[in-house]
Amino acid sequence: MRFMARSVLVSGGCGFIGSHIVDRLLLRGDLAELVVVDNLWTGSRSNLAHVKDARLRVEVQDVENFTSAHRFDEIIHLASPASPPWYMRDPARTIRANVVGALNLLGLLKPGGRFSFASTSEVYGDPAVSPQPESYRGAVDCTGPRSSYDESKRCTEALLFETRRVSGLDVRVARLFNTYGPRMRIDDGRAVSNFIVQALTTGALTVHGDGSQSRSWGYVDDVIEGLERFFWRDRISPAGPVNIGNDIEVPVIEIANYVRSLVPGSRIEYREPAPHDPSNRCPDLTMARQLMPGWRAGTTYQDGIRRTFEWFREQLAAPSVAVEPGPREISRALAG
Ligand SMILES: NC(=O)c1ccc[n+]([C@@H]2O[C@H](COP(=O)([O-])OP(=O)(O)OC[C@H]3O[C@@H](n4cnc5c(N)ncnc54)[C@H](O)[C@@H]3O)[C@@H](O)[C@H]2O)c1
Repeated sequence: MRFMARSVLVSGGCGFIGSHIVDRLLLRGDLAELVVVDNLWTGSRSNLAHVKDARLRVEVQDVENFTSAHRFDEIIHLASPASPPWYMRDPARTIRANVVGALNLLGLLKPGGRFSFASTSEVYGDPAVSPQPESYRGAVDCTGPRSSYDESKRCTEALLFETRRVSGLDVRVARLFNTYGPRMRIDDGRAVSNFIVQALTTGALTVHGDGSQSRSWGYVDDVIEGLERFFWRDRISPAGPVNIGNDIEVPVIEIANYVRSLVPGSRIEYREPAPHDPSNRCPDLTMARQLMPGWRAGTTYQDGIRRTFEWFREQLAAPSVAVEPGPREISRALAG
């Protein structure tokens, strides 16, 4: 079979999820060119350091200002921090990356091209129903501390689906639930990476609230498999956004206790609840299963955490990590 050579742009490709997406894209026989646009705000060139493939070009730039002499067959828009401490620190920049980034990238898509976007379970806010189906409209506070992220994802979804309505854009919107795994930042600030880094440095794992709040914990390989199938591999025509994640809810305290069990002598310390922390988050995956039969996030949290733990252990032992910032500074920052 002859392939049409495809040019693909990934924004945020130096980040945690983006770099795994790049690895999968480079396995494609029909890929002629892959351009990553990333300003390295929360990503790192080191996430792609292993790639030796002439089809990949990395442009260190803000996605909202990126220009190109030619247009792309497929655009995958991932540029945006995903971790609350990072996006809360710079709300205007978060909104620009998502909304202005999408507006700019739409102009770089070939007619008939496909635009894929990583939205989030945060569009459901602090949900009143569980699990959350895509049809649930959400309970988001548009003036709350998470709103720059929630609302810019919601606005970008509106932009994409309304563009489809008026001009037939081929759109794929994945609503990702909490994802963890190798290549997260050491100072990412979310539960799994925090617990692991704390266990390996100070030994004090900080749990906000009483730890009874539950989350879905999606191991990155499972989530990337879902995204690969949804964004380019499967022949599907989704009617709207699709949840991707793990639908087994596990309380935060259970995750903390598991990480603690990997490092003898480590302990749990309790802190104030995080602002507007939702009490539960769990995807209804009926739609994903209908569209992508056989796909599931099957990695147990024990397996996923062990693999992530080993990766962080190697990172913390590497000399480059000790330079900027060192594990002690990181754990001081995480202790809050
Ligand atoms: N990780 C999760 O649990 C999760 C959950 C839901 C949604 N998502 C979404 O998936 C996408 C990727 O998340 P991630 O976990 O890999 O986050 P990440 O922070 O590791 O990656 C985001 C990447 O975008 C880049 N970036 C940010 N603003 C930019 C800009 N203006 N121009 C160019 N590059 C920019 C960063 O430098 C980084 O490399 C994000 O859109 C996020 O909202 C992630």
